[in-house]
Amino acid sequence: MCKNYYKSKYRNLIVGVDTKVPVNNGKIVTAINFDNAATTPPFISVLKEIFDYAPWYSSIHRGSGYKSLVSSKLYEESRKIILDFVGADDKLNTVIYVKNATEAINKLANRLFDKKTRYVVLSSYMEHHSNDLPWRKDYKVDYIEVDECGRIDLNSLERQLKKYRGKVKLVALTGASNVTGYINPILAAAKIVHKYGASILIDGAQLVPHTNVNMKNENIDFLVFSAHKMYAPFGIGVLIGPTKTFERGAPDYVGGGTVNLVTHNYVEWNSPPNKEEAGTPNIMGVVALVAAIKTLNLLRRSEIQQYENSLTIYTIDSLKKIRDVKLYCIDSDVLRVGIVPFNIEGVEHGIVSEILSNEAGISVRDGCFCAQPYIRKLLKLDSNNIDRTRNRPGMVRISFGLYNDYSEVDRLVWILSKIVNNKEYYRNKYYKNYLER
Ligand code: ALA
Repeated sequence: MCKNYYKSKYRNLIVGVDTKVPVNNGKIVTAINFDNAATTPPFISVLKEIFDYAPWYSSIHRGSGYKSLVSSKLYEESRKIILDFVGADDKLNTVIYVKNATEAINKLANRLFDKKTRYVVLSSYMEHHSNDLPWRKDYKVDYIEVDECGRIDLNSLERQLKKYRGKVKLVALTGASNVTGYINPILAAAKIVHKYGASILIDGAQLVPHTNVNMKNENIDFLVFSAHKMYAPFGIGVLIGPTKTFERGAPDYVGGGTVNLVTHNYVEWNSPPNKEEAGTPNIMGVVALVAAIKTLNLLRRSEIQQYENSLTIYTIDSLKKIRDVKLYCIDSDVLRVGIVPFNIEGVEHGIVSEILSNEAGISVRDGCFCAQPYIRKLLKLDSNNIDRTRNRPGMVRISFGLYNDYSEVDRLVWILSKIVNNKEYYRNKYYKNYLER
């Protein structure tokens, strides 16, 4: 492999790629972060933009000072940038700023609730808990099945829509799985959903940072995502959907910014999106997100996707060659983001991640990744017989950002090969760490 191919050309855009961490042999190594599905480090451009904006930082919608006017304008104008980024029609849709994708889904669950009708929401077997639990409070929730490889089953979607004909308010589906990286066939799913008069929410937390998403072309009604998974970790997330959905009724959180008129016995709500954003808005978060979007657009997102895809294929091919590494869901005919789940036979997932960190300075996530039903399904475990012990089933997950590179994967392969050749030694060495975590 030639050297240029070997290094990520995006590496110098990221803060902290050269951070050194101690490992157990007393040496210091450059940290490797393979846990980007959980959170990504910031773009340098994001920090620069925060720094440049900081002298203008002021209250949003709450002051007549010049800085306040500048900040409020910037805040409001950002919504169009977000809508353009995901190909949403700005005449029909609004952007509501929240903390993260989880809060966005909770808000949507609250705002779609209609106490006169107990609607059905269809989630799926492959959802993150955040796209399942928020629906359970006020709706009947049922699930779309996945096939034996963990891919969404569109026949099951149609069967469920037929079963609940007319009662399904929403289908809540992930854009890409945080466990397997599978990208769902959004347009095909949306067409089926709309045929039965329901709406579709796409949880874009794992998708939007890695691929082009176009709400209009893909018939997406609602989209959520988090900036901290796209190189802008300043506590902002986004809920996008039809403005008219948020015109009716009261907002779920009330307070400053949500009202036009208040007396002790009368309230007139503001219009969306401001109606939905109680309290002082997170302008720093918005500045960061807009900066990340500008950087991603400049880099060409299809090229990023291509790069991350090649790195993922290289990783899968390399891990396949290591004895006793069990890979899950590596079907080559499915589009995916850069996520690779695996286990080592005979070494618990939690111990593997301890070893990777302590012996090689590699960060991964292990366990069930907030998607316990999906993990149980992939591991073919009985969901009526749940293991409550410390050694719960799970996997180790590698998840890439655009700055990861081939040499980092090679270090992973090196240490995994050492582990499989010395299982008992490493298991004994790190079992206590694992128990104490
Ligand atoms: N959803 C994030 C993950 O998968 C936190 O790690």
